[in-house]
Amino acid sequence: MTSIRKAVFPVGGLGTRFLPATKAIPKEMLPVVDKPLMQYAVEEAYAAGIRQMIFVTGRNKRAIEDHFDTAYELEAELEAAGKQQLLDLVHSIKPDDMDCFYVRQPRALGLGHAVLCAERLVGDEPFAVLLADDLMIGANQMAGGPTVLQQMVDAFASSPGTVLAVQDVPRADTRRYGVVDVHGVNQRLAEVFGMVEKPAPEKAPSTLAVAGRYILTPAVFDSIRNQPRGAGGEIQLTDGIAALIGREKVQAFRYDGQRYDCGSKEGFLQATIDLALANPELRDSVRAHIQRVAG
Ligand code: G1P
Repeated sequence: MTSIRKAVFPVGGLGTRFLPATKAIPKEMLPVVDKPLMQYAVEEAYAAGIRQMIFVTGRNKRAIEDHFDTAYELEAELEAAGKQQLLDLVHSIKPDDMDCFYVRQPRALGLGHAVLCAERLVGDEPFAVLLADDLMIGANQMAGGPTVLQQMVDAFASSPGTVLAVQDVPRADTRRYGVVDVHGVNQRLAEVFGMVEKPAPEKAPSTLAVAGRYILTPAVFDSIRNQPRGAGGEIQLTDGIAALIGREKVQAFRYDGQRYDCGSKEGFLQATIDLALANPELRDSVRAHIQRVAG
């Protein structure tokens, strides 16, 4: 059985929706409660058994590399102060058996282009793609259940091929997503017959939208390369995947869990509230505060 060993994180975007916060720091480093979005995504991949993390970065993204590197001065200070718990916390960001690789996306030409930049590091094997601004929490993850990517890796193991995480969205929102056309709309894992990037609501083939988690096959690289520019004049990942339909199995997977669109202020705040309420140290005071302001 082929397992998924590598994850690609496209992090070259400018984060304009979060200006001014993202003027000097990458949007992926914005924290939800106390952890950057980037770390949630890396932990999700790690929990799914992936040990090779490939970051497709751009200018202004140094903070991401630093986050997964040794922080010598900080660690020396913590050690001298005998703050072992904090030291363990800092060490746990990059477990010893995890490797990080970085490649630059020289120009922001789109998500498909970003994935293409990882081609040589991925090689000829299936791989995962995680968009860190989609924060995903598996339905029972807090109680030790599988993360969304783990659920997808399991789906891939039982039915190898492309696996796209999908969720139902209001029809009015289709132009924010890649939208799939499937037979067997209610199946957990359904074969995809068509796929379009950011369709207008009246043109969308369904209301099943792709969330920022993918398991892709290496055939997608050639497929992306052969596509003309798509929606928004960008090289779209959706178009590269769509062109594989009919040649390879492309499947939509209804994951069990919650997606927070942390690229939007609303989604980011919802994630912050939900994860604060799930945090034993913060739960009571945050709940009391919400009751006070909402009452
Ligand atoms: C990207 C993809 C889109 C997908 C979305 C999920 O869009 O192009 O197909 O549905 O992520 O978050 P973006 O959010 O980068 O515009």
